Amino acid sequence: MKKYCIAANWKMNKTISETKEFFRAFLPLVRGLEDREIVVAPPFTALFAAAEEIRGSAVRMAAQDVFWEEKGAFTGEVSPAMLLDAGCSHVIIGHSERRQYFSEDDVAVNRKVRAAKKAGLEVIMCVGESLDERESGRAFDVIKRQVETGLTEVSPEHLVVAYEPIWAIGTGKTATADQAQEVHAFIAKVISGLYGDKAGPVRIIYGGSVTPDNVDSLMACEDVFGALVGGAGLKPESFGRIASFKKEN
Ligand code: 13P
Repeated sequence: MKKYCIAANWKMNKTISETKEFFRAFLPLVRGLEDREIVVAPPFTALFAAAEEIRGSAVRMAAQDVFWEEKGAFTGEVSPAMLLDAGCSHVIIGHSERRQYFSEDDVAVNRKVRAAKKAGLEVIMCVGESLDERESGRAFDVIKRQVETGLTEVSPEHLVVAYEPIWAIGTGKTATADQAQEVHAFIAKVISGLYGDKAGPVRIIYGGSVTPDNVDSLMACEDVFGALVGGAGLKPESFGRIASFKKEN
């Protein structure tokens, strides 16, 4: 049985003191939930403080991005080794906001995924179609390209693929359980095509307006193995409830 991965992506939110405050309220809510992987992704500036807060708990920490080079003249960038040094076990790569605002393409995503995995980080690679791509019938082609290019020469261990339909991010418009399951099953097929019988460990998680109210029905889908949570991951009570999801079936 694969462990579900429930991750909060804080995006550009929370100072160091807000980070400490979050964990002091959040950790007691998820104590003992060891059958699932709970991950929080603070901004770079709060990583060190977050690492101190989660020490001794089962909660893990992700960064929201990484660069593919090991070191050198790359102003503003952070290497995989630096993330490990700050206490990260995971890193989110290829979020749609990075693709949209920072021109990250599938090739850049692939370079980042390879560098992060080589360094020993667990990667959460994001894919997902825009509303226009969905409405014009191109969603599956876009997702297939994102998965296949992003995972070129990448092994299936320590790998999570997050399906985040762009039209569902921050909009309150969640994909229905059926819509999510349809795409997750498709991604599972693409991943099987890449890895054959070694695809087992790869988890596909859903992101886009996940809330305490819809998490249980999303997690009941056959091919959904976790959630990547934005807005509802900023509050200890709501993320605590999401992390405590109950499997329905
Ligand atoms: P929301 O949960 O706020 O829709 O954000 C989803 C997301 O982008 C997580 O990475």
